[in-house]
Amino acid sequence: MILSKIICVANQKGGVGKTTLASNLGASLALEGKPTLLIDLDSLCSLTKAQGYNPDDFDSSIVTVFENVKNVPQCIYETGVDNLSIIPSSPMLDVAETSYINKKDKFDRLKKALEIVKPIFEYIIIDTSPTLNLYTINALAASNCIVIPAETKYQSMFSLEVFISSIEAMKEMKNPDLKLLGVVATMYNCQANEDKEVLTELQENQSVLGIIKRTTAASSAVKKGLPCVVANKRTVVAQEYREITKKIMNLLEVK
Ligand SMILES: Nc1ncnc2c1ncn2[C@@H]1O[C@H](COP(=O)(O)OP(=O)(O)O)[C@@H](O)[C@H]1O
Ligand SMILES: [Mg+2]
Repeated sequence: MILSKIICVANQKGGVGKTTLASNLGASLALEGKPTLLIDLDSLCSLTKAQGYNPDDFDSSIVTVFENVKNVPQCIYETGVDNLSIIPSSPMLDVAETSYINKKDKFDRLKKALEIVKPIFEYIIIDTSPTLNLYTINALAASNCIVIPAETKYQSMFSLEVFISSIEAMKEMKNPDLKLLGVVATMYNCQANEDKEVLTELQENQSVLGIIKRTTAASSAVKKGLPCVVANKRTVVAQEYREITKKIMNLLEVK
C-alpha cells in the first residue's frame, strides 16, 4: 500500500514563487507517473486558477474539508494533467476560519483528513498563503517535509531567516518529524550582482534544491491554465522544475 509523501510549500513572504513551485512540482511528479494531489490552502486560490479553474465553479473545496474531515473524497477533482488531482481553495477560506477557530482540533484537521487519502496518492503538495495562519499551521502539522522557495534578493533572505526560526518553533509544538527538505532559489537574475551574492549566501547556509531563473515562461503558463512544465515544456524553466522534482524524489524515495 502506498502512503503519500506530503510536501508543504511555504514562505511567509508573498510573491516568491510558492504557487508556481507547487503547481510545477505537482505536475512534474504526475509526469513522472506518480499519482499526485495538489491542495490549495490560500484564499486567493492561485493554485486552483493555475490549473485553469474558476474557484466559484466547484461545489466542494478545502473549506468543505475543514468543516468535516470525512468530506475529503468529495473535494478531490481531476485536473487537465494525467495523474494530477486537486482540492481547490475558495475565496471564503479566511472567513470560514471563524467557524472552527474555537475547536480543539483546529490545527489538526487537515492531518486527519489526509489520513483518509494517504493510500491513494504517492505525493501530496500543499500550497500555502504568505502568513503563518491557522491553515499554514495545519499544513505544517500534516506534512512530512517543507520546501521553501526564496527569491535571490537581500530582503527575501532576511525574511527567510525569520521564517525558518518560526518553523523550528512550530515543529517543536506541532510536528517534531517535519523535515526542512531545502530551499529553492527563485526569480534568479544571473546578470544582477545582488542575485549572485544572495545565491552564494544561500548555498553556503541552506540546502539549495535548485535554481529557477526569472523568465516570462513561468508566468505566461498561468494564462494557459496549465503548469509551465506542461504548457511550456521545452523551456529552460520547465527543465529547472523537472530537475528539482527529480532531486526531491531522490531525497524522499528510498531505493
Ligand atoms: N521564475 C519566474 N520568473 C518570473 N516570474 C515568475 C517566476 N515564477 C513565478 N513568477 C510570477 O511571479 C508572481 C508570483 O509568483 P507566485 O508563484 O504566485 O508566488 P507566491 O505564491 O509566493 O505569492 C506570479 O505572477 C508568477 O507568475
Ligand atoms: Mg501563492
